[in-house]
Amino acid sequence: MKKIAVIGAGYVGLVTAACLAQKNNFVTVIERDLQKITSLLNGKVPFYEPGLDNLIMSAIQTKHLIFVNNITQALEDEPEIIFSCVGTPSQEDGSADLSYVWHAAEEIGKSLKTYALVVNKSTVPVGTAQRVQQLIQSELDKRSSTLSFSVASNPEFLKEGDAINDFLMPDRIIVGVDSERALRLLTDLYYPFLSHGAPLVSMTVPSAELTKYASNAMLATRISFMNQMALLADKLGADINDVKKGMALDKRIGGAFLNSGIGYGGSCFPKDVRALVHMGASNGQRMSLVEEVDHVNEMQKQTFISRILQHYHNDVANKKIGIWGLAFKPETDDIRCAPAIDVINKLLSLGAYVIAYDPAATANMQALFKDTVTFVKTADDVIKQADCLVVLTEWQEFLHVDFEKLTVLKDNVVFDGRNCYPPEQLSHYGITYITMGRSNASPRTTQASGHMVMPSKVHVGITQSGA
Ligand SMILES: NC(=O)c1ccc[n+]([C@@H]2O[C@H](COP(=O)([O-])OP(=O)(O)OC[C@H]3O[C@@H](n4cnc5c(N)ncnc54)[C@H](O)[C@@H]3O)[C@@H](O)[C@H]2O)c1
Repeated sequence: MKKIAVIGAGYVGLVTAACLAQKNNFVTVIERDLQKITSLLNGKVPFYEPGLDNLIMSAIQTKHLIFVNNITQALEDEPEIIFSCVGTPSQEDGSADLSYVWHAAEEIGKSLKTYALVVNKSTVPVGTAQRVQQLIQSELDKRSSTLSFSVASNPEFLKEGDAINDFLMPDRIIVGVDSERALRLLTDLYYPFLSHGAPLVSMTVPSAELTKYASNAMLATRISFMNQMALLADKLGADINDVKKGMALDKRIGGAFLNSGIGYGGSCFPKDVRALVHMGASNGQRMSLVEEVDHVNEMQKQTFISRILQHYHNDVANKKIGIWGLAFKPETDDIRCAPAIDVINKLLSLGAYVIAYDPAATANMQALFKDTVTFVKTADDVIKQADCLVVLTEWQEFLHVDFEKLTVLKDNVVFDGRNCYPPEQLSHYGITYITMGRSNASPRTTQASGHMVMPSKVHVGITQSGA
């Protein structure tokens, strides 16, 4: 049982804090946004993450979790480990904005009272831990303190929507350390999270920092690769979903992150891919492959939008366009870099009316688009009012649709940015189905339907739209 401080009550900070508290550690969360603190103190998690509210409530009740709004107050308690989980958004030039990281480091240096291990959990470029070390040391020097401390890197790999599971049962834990003491502290802390056999992998700090970017860039590369392949499939009359199935059964390839569609979004892939390109450029290594991953992703959104416009001969003025799905992926209310933002902006700029529904992200989108978009309460409300349907997030409730219901759409057309449905079903109901990689596939017969004769254990059904 350790005393721990977690800076930042965002997706990563709150999940980290709640899961560490569940393992009987005493955790203090520091959040500078007073609205978030108030909401948490009232038992409300300020965003949607399945299961997180229950975990936080029980940790508050057992007094394993408390919230404060400044670092000085949290360090009064002399935590042994301080996790920095602040945001690292993109700057104009693609580099990571580290101002929150630097500020947190300075605050730690000003208030540290005893030895602590400071752990960067935020996704940060190589060299950040070293700079954090210098900033803390310089604050200690200013007050003539001889306190010792260490800085480690422990990148986080959780997925929004399944974050608690990912944290409690990780594939692996990566720690970048430069001392035995730091390694011992992190090994002890994470021991209860490894009982299912996952390894804790220790390495140097720069290697740990780079591992996070390399992992996200690899996943984004798979998505962009399949998206470009989907465009070719459209030209050649192939069905990209069948191609994916065929590829995924190769054990060397596997099935994850192979779905094509409108492209990835979210708070991680777009910014981390760009930060990696920037990190390469700043260190004399052009990351040309990663540059192209970003470019393909951007183009994919434009291609999807242009397919809507083509269908309407470039005139969507006064069209009522229905949208299912606003979050960047299912099971989250996060709309950071969600493709829906680009699609809605373009449609509004061309004079279309947008009627939209999302099971969790409506409030966040409403804050962005105000009353320029009509937000409705159910998926049915969208199709009853709209001329056509655009699917942008593959929530379960959109996957299990009664196709006959879609015939209510006035223009009888569905634009699917996530390739969710069997084309033959929509064509059976006389609905034009425009996709990314399946639009020009020949009508399927039972013989030619991606059917597998032998039962397969490979799961290829889940679309991936970001981390
Ligand atoms: N969201 C994800 O799925 C995910 C997954 C893995 C890694 N990451 C990385 O983790 C980091 C955090 O991501 P997030 O999505 O949780 O961010 P977030 O923006 O949701 O949360 C960050 C929080 O930190 C708070 N904060 C900033 N400076 C502070 C300070 N000095 N004191 C107290 N609070 C402060 C902010 O108010 C905010 O609430 C990023 O680097 C991100 O790339 C995110």
